[in-house]
Amino acid sequence: MIDFRKSTLAVIAGIGLMLSAAAQPKKISPDLFGLFFEDINYAADGGLYAELVQNRSFEYSPTDRQEWGPFSFWEYITPGFSYGSIQVETNHPVNPNNPHYIVLNVEHVGDAGIGIKNPGFDGMTVKAGDTYTLSFLARQLTGAPISLSVSLQTPKGKILAEQSLSTSSSDWKKYTASLTPSAASDSASLVILVTSTGKLALDVISLFPEKTFKRRPNGLRADLAQALAEIKPKFIRFPGGCLVHGDGVGNMYKWKNTIGPIEQRIEQKNIWGYHQTAGLGYYEYFQFCEDIGAKPLPVLPAAVSCQNSGGTWRIGSTGQKAIPMDDMQNYIQDVLDLIEWANGPATSVWGAKRAAAGHAAPFNLEYIGIGNEDKITPAFEERFKMIYSAVKAKYPRITIVGTVGPFPDGEDFSKGWAFANNLSVPVVDEHYYKEPEWFMGHLDRYDAYDRSKSKVYLGEYASWGNTLKNALAEAAYMTSLERNGDVVHMASYAPLLAKKNHTQWKPDMIFFDNNNICLTPNYYVQKMFSTHQGDVYIHRIVSYNAKDTTLAASCVQDNKTGDVILKLVNTGTQARGMKINLANFKSIQPTAVQTILTGASDAQNTLENPQAIAPVESVIKVSRKIEYTAPAMSLTVIRIKTRS
Ligand code: AHR
Repeated sequence: MIDFRKSTLAVIAGIGLMLSAAAQPKKISPDLFGLFFEDINYAADGGLYAELVQNRSFEYSPTDRQEWGPFSFWEYITPGFSYGSIQVETNHPVNPNNPHYIVLNVEHVGDAGIGIKNPGFDGMTVKAGDTYTLSFLARQLTGAPISLSVSLQTPKGKILAEQSLSTSSSDWKKYTASLTPSAASDSASLVILVTSTGKLALDVISLFPEKTFKRRPNGLRADLAQALAEIKPKFIRFPGGCLVHGDGVGNMYKWKNTIGPIEQRIEQKNIWGYHQTAGLGYYEYFQFCEDIGAKPLPVLPAAVSCQNSGGTWRIGSTGQKAIPMDDMQNYIQDVLDLIEWANGPATSVWGAKRAAAGHAAPFNLEYIGIGNEDKITPAFEERFKMIYSAVKAKYPRITIVGTVGPFPDGEDFSKGWAFANNLSVPVVDEHYYKEPEWFMGHLDRYDAYDRSKSKVYLGEYASWGNTLKNALAEAAYMTSLERNGDVVHMASYAPLLAKKNHTQWKPDMIFFDNNNICLTPNYYVQKMFSTHQGDVYIHRIVSYNAKDTTLAASCVQDNKTGDVILKLVNTGTQARGMKINLANFKSIQPTAVQTILTGASDAQNTLENPQAIAPVESVIKVSRKIEYTAPAMSLTVIRIKTRS
C-alpha cells in the first residue's frame, strides 16, 4: 500500500531551490493524472478493440437489444444459383461459454457456393497492401473436407483480397488466412463462401489488422491506442463506470469471464445498450497498461449492481441489487484471485493462467477499485466491508480505492465519505460532471480537505462540453488538483472514447469513426498536464490579480529532470498579465519549451475538421523574472530546465 505519510523532505532534497519554510515544495502524488477507460459509446468492440467482425461468435441476443439475435450483422448469401440452408445451432458448441454457432448446408454449389457476409461495425475499413488475419473455428459435419473461399469485398462485390481454404477435421478446429487488399475501402465486408457440397459448422469468425498497437495479437486499434499512449497516463482505470456494477447482479462485469482464449470468454449485454464480446478483457487491459507505462487500476463491483439497474435512470433511484450473502465468499475469492492472477508467480493457480496467456512475469498491480459510485446503502456497506477486509488481510500492499457516489456532494457523497473514513479506506473515488462555471467556482475545493483522512481519486470529471471554454475550465481545475496533489492522489477525465453514431454520453475526450479520430481540446488539456507532471508543487511562483477569477496557475517540479513546469490558464476573453518569479531557483537555463492551446471560446474539433484547435509548441527565452501575457482563452505550459 502507498505510504501517504512519507516525509516530503527526502523528496525535495536536492531539487535546487532556496525557499523559506512556508514556501517549501510540497510532495504531490506520483500518479496524479491518468486515464479512465469505460466500454461506453462503443469504446471497446467497434472501437479500441481492433476486431473488424461484428458479432463474430453469434452471441448477440435480444437481451442486448430487442431487435438483435445470433445472426445480427450477418447476411446469408447464395450467389450464382447455389442453394442450401443456414441454421443457428447450440447442441455441440466450441465451448459452453460460447453456445451459438452456425451450420451451413450446401446442397448445390452453383457458380460460387453459399455463405455469409459481415459488414463489421458500419463497414470495415481496410488499407491497400496491409495484411488482415482471418481466423475461424470450423467443424465438418458430413465427413469429407469442405472447401471455402474467404474474401474482402466492396459493397458492389469487387473482390479486394481472396484466399481458398479446405477443412480437415470433424472436430472444432481453428483455421487462419491472410488477406491483403489490393485497394483501400471504408465499407468492405468479409465474405465466407462454402464452395463444395456438405455441411459445415462455423464459429468465432474474426478478422484483425496485423498492424494492431505494438502488433499484439487480439490487439488494439493502433491510432486510438497511440493517442492514449501519447497522453503518458500514470494509470488507467478500467473497464468502467456503470459497466462495472452492471444492470442487475447477473450483468456485473466479472473479470474471470474475460480472460483465456476468446472462444472461452463469456459475452454479455453492455449496460449502455449494446454487446460486449469481452475480447478486450483483463489480459488485454493489463497488457496495454504495461505497453504504455501506466499502472493498472481495475475496478470490481462492490457486490452490488448499479442503482439504475432495470432502467431506473433518475437521481436517488434504488434499482441496486446485491449479491446474496451465501454467494459472498465465492465473490470475495474472485476478487482475491484477481490479485493472484496479476501478481502471483507463474506457479500459482491464477498466475499460471496469466503465464499461459503469454505473460509469465507479474503485472505488478498496486491498486484495486471496489465499487463504482454505488448508492451507499446498508447492503453496499456490508459487502464493501467484507471485500475490503479480505483484500487488506491477504494483500496489505494493495491500495484499495473506495467510492463515494455519483455527485460532488449530497447524501451518497457524505455517507460514502463517512463510511470510508471510518474504515480508513486509503483512497476514495469522487465523480462529477458540471458546467465550466462550476469548475471555475470551485478551484478551492480541495484546499480545505483534511489531509489526515482518505485521499481522493477524482475518477470521473468533465465540464459539459467539448469547446475550448470547457477544456480551459478543466485546465484551471487541474492546476488546483496539482496544488492539492498531496490529498488528490489521482484524477481522470471521463468518458474517454466515443464512436460516431454510437455515442450514449457526451462530452467525451476522443471522438472517432472507423477511419479517423478527433482529439478534442479537452484531450489536449489532459495531455498538456499529463505529459508535464511533477513530483513537488512549488507555491508562490506565479502571481496575478487575485480578484480576477478567470485566471489560474500552478508550478511543479519534476525530480528526475529537475525541470520546473508552469501551467498558466486564462479563461477570460482578454489577454492578462502574470508575473513569474524564479529567483529562488539555483539555476535556470536561458531557453524553455512553451506549449500554448488557444482559440475562440466556442472552438471545437470535429471528425471533419479535427485540427481547428491544437497546441502550438515553441522555444522561448526565459529569465528569473518573467512578465507573461496569457492570451485570451488559453492554457500555456512552460517547461524550464534547471540543469544544463
Ligand atoms: O462516464 C460515464 C458514466 O458516468 C459512468 O459510467 C458512470 O460511472 C458515471 O455516472
